[in-house]
Amino acid sequence: MNEPVCLITGGTGGLGRATAAVLAQQSARVVVVGRDGRKGERVAAELREQIGRPDVDFIAADLSRLSEVRRLAEEFRARCDRLHVLINNAGAVRRRLELTADGFEATFAVSYLAPFVLTRLLLDLLRASAPARVINVVSISHRGPLDFDNLRGEKPHRWFRAYNQAKFAEVLFTYELARRLAGTGVTANCVHPGTIRTEIWRDLPRFWRLFRPLAGSPDRAARDIARLALSPDLADVTGQYFAAGAITPSAPETYDDALAKELWRRTEEWTGLPAWDASSPR
Ligand SMILES: NC(=O)c1ccc[n+]([C@@H]2O[C@H](COP(=O)([O-])OP(=O)(O)OC[C@H]3O[C@@H](n4cnc5c(N)ncnc54)[C@H](OP(=O)(O)O)[C@@H]3O)[C@@H](O)[C@H]2O)c1
Repeated sequence: MNEPVCLITGGTGGLGRATAAVLAQQSARVVVVGRDGRKGERVAAELREQIGRPDVDFIAADLSRLSEVRRLAEEFRARCDRLHVLINNAGAVRRRLELTADGFEATFAVSYLAPFVLTRLLLDLLRASAPARVINVVSISHRGPLDFDNLRGEKPHRWFRAYNQAKFAEVLFTYELARRLAGTGVTANCVHPGTIRTEIWRDLPRFWRLFRPLAGSPDRAARDIARLALSPDLADVTGQYFAAGAITPSAPETYDDALAKELWRRTEEWTGLPAWDASSPR
């Protein structure tokens, strides 16, 4: 990949920002995404200054809204005609139940629905730019079961369960995407970055926040994610879960291919995306 184009959601803070810096240092043209326009423009300007690359760019989008995910895809296309690396990194913890404009529990919407829809809407660009890579930033906290009857706040909200469920869905999505993209030159992998000192801790209950000083710095995790994005050694690796820089087994329930297919089918229904057609670029 010569001057690869990388799109990274949640690139305005924490791991995403640190990863964007490493990618730009390694000659990538980087586009970062975050909710807050002023913060995002400031971060992009700081990265341009820090790395000395004039082409670090920012697009504002609130990924909890499917309409914003669609607008982001359109805006990205208007700016770039290639996409080599899509990093679905944005994520958050919601201690209290929040339903999105589309009626979904917000953790699930940002960590799972947004990556699914953004990836699908940019898949033709990724395929046309192949070799290309999709990287989903998940978490060691990815556990089933997936409760299809509790994705819209139907049951009492437990933040940790909601986070586990959203990340579980994202791992299932990664594996199913890798299967569907076999032979296209587009790979799909997911990564647990480690326990890292970022703003995500701000939203955790007080007891958990006591452990924040023990967490690692974003820089090492950023280098691991950038390696997944750009390293030639990993060009053909697909359908894997990485932790501490190495391929690692994910939770046993993530290898349920039938569940992954069912989730995929339902997600197409929820989001209004057309049913997958292997011959179509999207
Ligand atoms: N830190 C850890 O220990 C840890 C461990 C395991 C997994 N992870 C995962 O790593 C990823 C990055 O998290 P982090 O620790 O770097 O958290 P962070 O410091 O809170 O950063 C989160 C990023 O996501 C963006 N974001 C949040 N909600 C968004 C929304 N609705 N729309 C668009 N952007 C949104 C934020 O941008 P704005 O605020 O500018 O909108 C920010 O850039 C997440 O997927 C998280 O689950 C983190």
